[in-house]
Amino acid sequence: MSITASEFTTSYARVDKIPVDRRPEFAFIGRSNVGKSSLLNMLTSRKELAKTSGRPGKTQLINYFLINGSWNMTDLPGYGYAVQSKKTRSKWETRTTNYFTKREQLTCAMVLIDSNVPPQKIDLEFVNWLGELGVPFVLVFTKTDRKKARGLTQVEAFKKKLLEQWEELPPVFLTSAVKQDGREELLALIEKTLLG
Ligand code: GTP
Ligand code: MG
Repeated sequence: MSITASEFTTSYARVDKIPVDRRPEFAFIGRSNVGKSSLLNMLTSRKELAKTSGRPGKTQLINYFLINGSWNMTDLPGYGYAVQSKKTRSKWETRTTNYFTKREQLTCAMVLIDSNVPPQKIDLEFVNWLGELGVPFVLVFTKTDRKKARGLTQVEAFKKKLLEQWEELPPVFLTSAVKQDGREELLALIEKTLLG
């Protein structure tokens, strides 16, 4: 699929304030700093559509991006940013949890995992939670251009951990926002999902 139009529409602090909309939604979720906003920019071929930062905790609201006038990408605040105060952290986590449990338009979650680090408890917990909730999702490993990602050892380790819990794996994508790797594959998945 090609993306011919992409625009930021609105940010929401509360899931119950998001209007009911018939358009399907693809959500970007993962630990703070994993590269959610960068991936969204890579897919839309827009450098600064979603704001990115080297500091974790950049995205704080649920941001909506309308794609080709017919479906949405949602950029969510990251989870697991330890430097936040407990209060802020729980506010963000409530937001994220509500989105996944309540948003009926959610078509597929893109769960981003850093391909450079060993399996993180918080990622495994999140993936298990989504699975139990029955939300369709795919795993998107990010930053494969970095040195530590070489050999994809951590990707394999993560998959192995998941297989201790689940009989089969969701679709897995390897991406680099820097090198534009994985773009065509992810867009093909979105297209296939939209066509149902
Ligand atoms: P929060 O909004 O804070 O949760 O972060 P985020 O997940 O949206 O991450 P963001 O896209 O802001 O990227 C975080 C940092 O990682 C930035 O410094 C990006 O430039 C960098 N980054 C993102 N994707 C890649 C990638 O594929 N390769 C490399 N090398 N760096 C990346
Ligand atoms: Mg972000």
